[in-house]
Amino acid sequence: MAVALITGSSSGIGQHSALELVRRGHRVFASMRNLESAHFIEEKAQKERLSVETIQLDVTDADSVAAAIAHITERAGRLNVLVNNAGFGSFGPLEDYSDEDLKYVFETNFFGALPAMRAQRNGTIIMVSSISGLRTFPFLSAYSASKFALEAASNGLRHELRPFGIRVILVEPGNFTTRAGVNMHVPKRIAEGVAQGTRDPLYDTLWKRFTATSGIVPFGDASDVARVIADAAEAENPEARYLVGKDAEEIVALSPEDFERSMIKRMTLPN
Ligand SMILES: NC(=O)c1ccc[n+]([C@@H]2O[C@H](COP(=O)([O-])OP(=O)(O)OC[C@H]3O[C@@H](n4cnc5c(N)ncnc54)[C@H](OP(=O)(O)O)[C@@H]3O)[C@@H](O)[C@H]2O)c1
Repeated sequence: MAVALITGSSSGIGQHSALELVRRGHRVFASMRNLESAHFIEEKAQKERLSVETIQLDVTDADSVAAAIAHITERAGRLNVLVNNAGFGSFGPLEDYSDEDLKYVFETNFFGALPAMRAQRNGTIIMVSSISGLRTFPFLSAYSASKFALEAASNGLRHELRPFGIRVILVEPGNFTTRAGVNMHVPKRIAEGVAQGTRDPLYDTLWKRFTATSGIVPFGDASDVARVIADAAEAENPEARYLVGKDAEEIVALSPEDFERSMIKRMTLPN
């Protein structure tokens, strides 16, 4: 039985992963920044007669992180699996992002990944990246930059930590149904309606065209991602990365030239 900590367990992939690991007999600390959301996972666990421990953890708050780790150490004495899942999407033309907007995205999606366990010399860290950590789509440039950064850091960390008995694994989902759409961040200027479309109508047209051609492949069920995360957590010799979803597989299968051509096509207005 492993002791696992999942960040961002109030909904979506984090919640599914926490429940999946509990189902498999592990002791799970399902963390979330707002414990008022704890009832969502607790009710689901109760229905299946599962036991999940919910704790407060905001990945952007060092005190909150330290308190959560101290709590787990005190209660369980160890941490074997850390799933760095907390994150959010961000959508908008890159030009509309202020430095503040970009820092906000990176604060959670990149800096929010917790590097734990070296002292323990044993464990697994799973980084929930994205297909956007491998390919960049227009209007998702900021999100993609944060996930590319997470990929780069994880790829180095994997080799730095292997000699200490710690595995670092990347999970790269395509589109899955979660609360990500509702929780989507947009740059402040867009939220306030002072840019995008109002500044240059061409953006508005391109935006509509791009979104109309997005999500053609139906979104997957987030429990599939959770199963991949749990399998990776339990694997004796895990892969370095797990791509999840038919859409993600199809995109990665495209050559860089074909991917470039497909983006150009989607961003070209018909005559
Ligand atoms: N869904 C997809 O299609 C997809 C695809 C690729 C990658 N991903 C990645 O999967 C991860 C989970 O997203 P999801 O799709 O499951 O979306 P979600 O349902 O919106 O879940 C995101 C979780 O992250 C939490 N979170 C955000 N900021 C946080 C912070 N500062 N501290 C702690 N928790 C925080 C949210 O908490 P609150 O409830 O408090 O906001 C929520 O629990 C993200 O890293 C996302 O980038 C998702």
